[in-house]
Amino acid sequence: MRVIQTLNEMRSYSLKMKARGKTLGFVPTMGALHEGHLSLIEEARQRADIVVVSIFINPLQFSPREDLARYPRDLKRDKKLLKNFDIDVLFLPRAQDLYPKGFSSYVEVEGLSRIMCGKARPGHFRGVATVVAKLFNLVSPHYAFFGEKDFQQQVLIKRMVRDLDFPVEIIALPTVREFDGLAMSSRNKYLSPPERKAATILYKALSYAKKDIEDGEVNARKILLALRNLIGTEPLIKLEYAVMVDPKTLAEVKKIKKRALIALAARVGKARLIDNLLIKTK
Ligand code: PAJ
Repeated sequence: MRVIQTLNEMRSYSLKMKARGKTLGFVPTMGALHEGHLSLIEEARQRADIVVVSIFINPLQFSPREDLARYPRDLKRDKKLLKNFDIDVLFLPRAQDLYPKGFSSYVEVEGLSRIMCGKARPGHFRGVATVVAKLFNLVSPHYAFFGEKDFQQQVLIKRMVRDLDFPVEIIALPTVREFDGLAMSSRNKYLSPPERKAATILYKALSYAKKDIEDGEVNARKILLALRNLIGTEPLIKLEYAVMVDPKTLAEVKKIKKRALIALAARVGKARLIDNLLIKTK
């Protein structure tokens, strides 16, 4: 595993590999790696000759009120974990290189960046789109891997890639969960034991909603009401939003047809957790 820190070295490495006819798979992360990240890396290993993983805690996607300063960091542990995965490059760009003095160009995916998580986190998706665009330019992968855990992020990146003609295929992979259903997240580390226990209601509520839909319920309002009521019984959880949307466009749906996505965000103690479930009816 080669560790690359400078932008020039990353660029020339990719060019060299491409000139040799190798395919490149890329997994961007913010570190504090868990099995969710590792599932993306495993898939990248399957699909591409060369696997590049980046760890960069992107200041641009955190607002001043958010958890940038206390976001979990453990590079030593991450490096150790990655050694078991036979990756080719660990890319660790530095903030001062990615955002030099005078930096003033941003990628805004209009519409998609303002709904759902974008409402509570203004500027967040602009930060995500900008850093991912920059990383794509530096790594120039054939494939890039994202988790459905961050469903909105994955839809937004696909939109950006189409709109701005990035020559990369985006591959989205299913959410990896803890034994009790809680979606794995670096932010689960913020939960106290009672909060950790309470957080399981999120997946439970999504699963009940899924079952109701599979049993024939088509009224999105009804489903969401039941979901809000259930989550409302848990005093440690403050639901921020719960929506039923089209999984391709993220437009809200009133009547569920073939495919729908239920997505939610909630505050649990210091953590802001998100989760979603993709539903297919017959
Ligand atoms: P991060 O939260 O570290 O996540 C990196 C990738 O891992 C994302 O594609 C995310 O969707 C995926 N992931 C996280 N938890 C997962 C889980 N439980 N199951 C499956 N995949 C999971 O998302 C980011 O970083 C950043 O916004 C980034 C794209 C790196 C840009 O800064």
